[in-house]
Amino acid sequence: MPIRLDQFIANSSELSRKDAKRAIGRKRVSVDGEIVTSPNVKIPDTSRVILDGKPLSLPSELYLMLHKPSGYVSATRDGEHPTVLDLLPAELARRTGLHIAGRLDMDTSGLLLLTTDGQWSHRITSPRHDCRKVYRVGLDRPLDTTAHQTLENGLMLEGEDKPTLPASVHKLEDRLVELTIGEGRYHQVKRMMAAVGNHVTGLHRQRVGAIGLDSGLKPGQFRPLTQEEIDSV
Ligand code: URA
Repeated sequence: MPIRLDQFIANSSELSRKDAKRAIGRKRVSVDGEIVTSPNVKIPDTSRVILDGKPLSLPSELYLMLHKPSGYVSATRDGEHPTVLDLLPAELARRTGLHIAGRLDMDTSGLLLLTTDGQWSHRITSPRHDCRKVYRVGLDRPLDTTAHQTLENGLMLEGEDKPTLPASVHKLEDRLVELTIGEGRYHQVKRMMAAVGNHVTGLHRQRVGAIGLDSGLKPGQFRPLTQEEIDSV
């Protein structure tokens, strides 16, 4: 993946981005053996970057699972409400490029994945990869057979021109179902239920692909993903 030179240095040394720019301007930095004086230049993240004679290496990518409590916004910044990054220690929350792989609404709880690896998160969020997400959905009233079938077949959401991909629905209790979908459109579960005349009263994500929410994590807690979980995506 290409990365700006000043960003590379800020991520791999003690220097701030501003100090990195200054060091580049003062010819203290070489890339693959050549002195580079422009901080804006994009280089492959595998480049050999040397600052003051010392080779720099980027830290490895970060992959986390968080048990998101409701009441937190899936964003890196919000003027009004706490964000999921407030649940992480500062040194992780400020890692460059850390982003959410598939947001949850503020009132939704459950499995949230965060990573610095853009290609990995793309495989989770792109409908092309059909990464299945499993939700436990509380409902206003029981689903009848027609609604159940409509959800499974795929339906048209208001304001959209393509039907949802086939989903699967398992009844857990009268007003509680497990819904599995392969996409992550805006408010998708709530809008699917609204499209069949129902209303979501509670939403919790249990699984993303082969990664299940660790039952040892209390709401607000997180842990790094295992190598097996990372490789499963
Ligand atoms: N669908 C929704 O409507 N909300 C979420 O948070 C996740 C999926």
